[in-house]
Amino acid sequence: MKAVVLPRYGGAEELEVTDTPMPPRGPGEVLIRQRATSVNPVDWKIGSGAAAEVFPAELPLIPGWDAAGVITEVGSDVTDYQVGDEVFGYVRRPVAKWGTYAEYTTAEPWMIARKPASLDWDSAGALPLVGVTALQALDMVGVQEGDTVLVHAASGGVGTMAVQIAKARGARVIGTASARNHDYLRAFGAEPVEYGDGLLERLRRLVPDGPDAALDAAGGDAVAVSIAAGAAPDRVVSIVDPSVKEQGAHHFLMNVTTEDLQTLGGLTEARRLTVPIAETYPLDKAADAWRASQTGRTRGKLVLRIS
Ligand SMILES: NC(=O)c1ccc[n+]([C@@H]2O[C@H](COP(=O)([O-])OP(=O)(O)OC[C@H]3O[C@@H](n4cnc5c(N)ncnc54)[C@H](OP(=O)(O)O)[C@@H]3O)[C@@H](O)[C@H]2O)c1
Repeated sequence: MKAVVLPRYGGAEELEVTDTPMPPRGPGEVLIRQRATSVNPVDWKIGSGAAAEVFPAELPLIPGWDAAGVITEVGSDVTDYQVGDEVFGYVRRPVAKWGTYAEYTTAEPWMIARKPASLDWDSAGALPLVGVTALQALDMVGVQEGDTVLVHAASGGVGTMAVQIAKARGARVIGTASARNHDYLRAFGAEPVEYGDGLLERLRRLVPDGPDAALDAAGGDAVAVSIAAGAAPDRVVSIVDPSVKEQGAHHFLMNVTTEDLQTLGGLTEARRLTVPIAETYPLDKAADAWRASQTGRTRGKLVLRIS
């Protein structure tokens, strides 16, 4: 099969598009002919070797965890899927090795869900990691109707999902982004605010009583500013910085469930959630997609279209 392979730790320049063996599959797994996947910052963090303590890897490896495609084989222990089913999901393994930048990937049933017919393949391949992260982060800090929630890096992959899910729950949403992304956030019903020097003062003007909850997808002083602005520390979550626990805030690593994927799929069917695509690349151009992601300025998602 055609796949993007990282033979040694490094950056985008190390990625090779090549013919590889099919991924190994067990009786409890399905084989998926991929239609699309997406680039997430964690892919190149693992690729650099810098994340090896949290995400062990075995080189050479195929990067990527977002999956979307059609089931072509069903293991003998799998009862709930059939050949031909259209699915999407997040297929992280304990050791990064057989990722999703490839024509085929494998999944255990709990990692995937049926793709809603109305969800296009690019969106299905871009949604799982960021969508589940946003959902679980908002759950962790109890975001509900009537809350005011502050989302840091609101125009990125996770932020764009968090803004929409929080709005769907009936929350007021304040989102940090640079000025060029403010209209983008307004289109989702969020109130944009510029990050950087003076953020705390701008927040105090916008939300004098402070936000009820905050989600940090940016790092730096985002959690400290959220708390200084009035958010209770136990209603603040960072997906970037584990050290925020010292401030009484939460940090977590998302993990997929079929139920969360179904919730996201339901929101897309109800037109409460869309997956804005910044750019779509063929698999051959995965290195360009990594370079774009590494700028840290992506609006929405970067998709790798496979077929
Ligand atoms: N813990 C977990 O389970 C988990 C899960 C998913 C992601 N993550 C991590 O969460 C982070 C975000 O992921 P992502 O996929 O959303 O990234 P992304 O799509 O690459 O984020 C890009 C966005 O970040 C914004 N941004 C950059 N610096 C900012 C700052 N200082 N303040 C506010 N916004 C800023 C940019 O907006 P402008 O262009 O306007 O600057 C851009 O729209 C990454 O570090 C990722 O590894 C963790």
